[in-house]
Amino acid sequence: MKNQKIIIALDGNSSCGKSTYAKRIATEIGYAYIDTGAMYRSVTLAAMEKGLFDETEAPPIEQIEEVLKTVELNLRFNPHKQRTEIFLNGRMVEDLIRRMEVADHVSYIAAISSVRRKMVEYQRKLGEEKGVVMDGRDIGTVVFPKAELKIFLTASPEVRAIRRYKELIEKGMLVELEEVRLNLEKRDHIDSSREDSPLKQADDSIVLDNSEMTVEEQMVWFREKFDRLRTEE
Ligand code: DC
Repeated sequence: MKNQKIIIALDGNSSCGKSTYAKRIATEIGYAYIDTGAMYRSVTLAAMEKGLFDETEAPPIEQIEEVLKTVELNLRFNPHKQRTEIFLNGRMVEDLIRRMEVADHVSYIAAISSVRRKMVEYQRKLGEEKGVVMDGRDIGTVVFPKAELKIFLTASPEVRAIRRYKELIEKGMLVELEEVRLNLEKRDHIDSSREDSPLKQADDSIVLDNSEMTVEEQMVWFREKFDRLRTEE
């Protein structure tokens, strides 16, 4: 496949460093980075802003679907901040969707089939031209089952909770490590046990446990896999 652009699917649990890794890979090889979790988070935010989660943890699907109809998502690269930002009906929500309140409800939203159908449609369109690094839970299994390179990233639950906690604290959010650990545990459980497109390893993915690895070490690992693919016929 020499110099042809490919699709790189990066799946794995919450907070195992997928987005940091995907961004680094994209920058290094000049690909676009697409964060599919941000899409599910944006739909969640839209539902929260309509008050659907005010009284209940599990609002009726029909109400979510009404909100879904009004949701339009766009991704744009912000050269000043050197990041891709997500726009919900024209409003930049990149920071809002990272809040714990959104994380608390997103797995419920991501388990709804009609939501997934719409998000997968967006994702396939974004990957049409290839040359993308897409991170999520079902990229290698459902969105792009023919992706040329599939990486399944994992890290121990303790390492993931600490990473996420530090990230939130650095953003100035007031959270407890235990709260973060419980949220991750709950999300892992819902994401891997839901009926539609559960988080699971694609048979042809390569597993990378980065619990004890720096990003630089992960990049060396990636380079080796990527270069090998490119020298294959
Ligand atoms: O990667 P993240 O933490 O931003 O993802 C937010 C939620 O969205 C997470 O609970 C799993 C879900 N998700 C999904 O179901 N499928 C994807 N492709 C990406 C995220």
